[in-house]
Amino acid sequence: MRGNSQKILIKKGRVYSPGAGISSEIDVLIHEGIIKRIDRGIQPTGAKILDAEGCIVSPGFIDMHVHLREPGMEYKEDVGSGSRAAVSGGFTVVCCMPNTDPPIDNASVAEYVFDRGVDEGLCMVLPHGAITQGRGGKALAPMGEMGSCRAMVRGFSDDGSTVTDSEIMRRAMEYARTMDSLIISHCEDVSLTAGGQMNEGFYSTLLGLRGIPREAEEIGVFRDICLSEKTNAELHIAHVSTAETIMLLRDAKRRNSRVTCEVTPHHFTLDDSYLVTYDTNLKVNPPLRSRADVEAVLEGLADGTVDVIATDHAPHALHEKETEFDRAEFGMVGLETCLALVISVLVENGVLSLEGALEKMTLAPSRIMRLERFGYSPLIEEGAPANITVFNPDFEWVVDPQMFKSRSKNSPFAGWKVKGKVIHTIFSGRVVLENMEVKAKLE
Ligand code: DOR
Repeated sequence: MRGNSQKILIKKGRVYSPGAGISSEIDVLIHEGIIKRIDRGIQPTGAKILDAEGCIVSPGFIDMHVHLREPGMEYKEDVGSGSRAAVSGGFTVVCCMPNTDPPIDNASVAEYVFDRGVDEGLCMVLPHGAITQGRGGKALAPMGEMGSCRAMVRGFSDDGSTVTDSEIMRRAMEYARTMDSLIISHCEDVSLTAGGQMNEGFYSTLLGLRGIPREAEEIGVFRDICLSEKTNAELHIAHVSTAETIMLLRDAKRRNSRVTCEVTPHHFTLDDSYLVTYDTNLKVNPPLRSRADVEAVLEGLADGTVDVIATDHAPHALHEKETEFDRAEFGMVGLETCLALVISVLVENGVLSLEGALEKMTLAPSRIMRLERFGYSPLIEEGAPANITVFNPDFEWVVDPQMFKSRSKNSPFAGWKVKGKVIHTIFSGRVVLENMEVKAKLE
């Protein structure tokens, strides 16, 4: 990687490293891409100094679920703008979904996206591959080819769509098992969701919008847990949104199933009552559910049923959102508000300790994605490669989507007063975000 001969001294931060907790004030010296020393009072000779007083020095955040829209929908986002949004939000690794145009369903598109990430040089961009050709649900995509190409694809998903045919899903899992890959499932029984706009319930009736029943997700989750137990394939359930899904996952984990899951900040923060404003930025798939579902998701986070926090960053252009509710696209951006929602909603309310929340954004996704294959480490320790996020957990700010580095601004959190802000991000030993400003490529 470029520019990693830089010598950097992070002064007076409190270091969080998974397993070791949060330290008292200490300095971290980085040279040639590596964490060289963690100690008190390190002399700065020749080093660039990053002030971290009052801040937490954390392993870089890892987002297992983003949409970067390249190739084909660059008017919403591309790998460059998505990388800038990522490092602004403290992410040093983002894994992008294959619902692009063309889809990431073969090695050449996977390598293209991976190489674009390397070229931008701000963070690691790891493409997930499609399960089926063209994400059409009919025939398996060349998973082996994608797994063994330069991008070393581990996660396979038709995210945005579900794999309707159970026989195809079974075969995908059988392949995944032999390749040591991961199936990431977007669970949705489309015969129940067709035409749906929001969660089915009191508010969909009140607002006159067609409902999406929670059972549509739960049927899919149940089927895929069954298939994973039959094939012994590793399964990761994307964007969990209902109480019953949490129960299914809790039970599966009790049986030691090879299943993990993620929730998004919007699903642990918002319920369907927010839709009374008809703000299309609240239109997501799966939809925002009832307060009882949000409570169950919070319990799942607290008791460890939920492994990972992932954003499902889904950028859309203004014209795709500023339209009638039933014509608007599903999805919201999330990279630049994730930490603030984690702190403001989970940590401030005692759902998770700060360490517990960070573990779900660093160690857990690194383990599930097997990032050590790329020489990546989610730890802050001497000798580890330097991928670090420095954030101020007490920094209060008001969300203004116009300030986002993402090309799209579709956030329902505009105007929210939140707590927690990323100040510096270091990727591969290079400062890529300094004092909240993204650093130009070749600096
Ligand atoms: O809200 C969503 N947006 N959910 C998905 O599953 C896909 C995503 C997108 O690609 O916009």
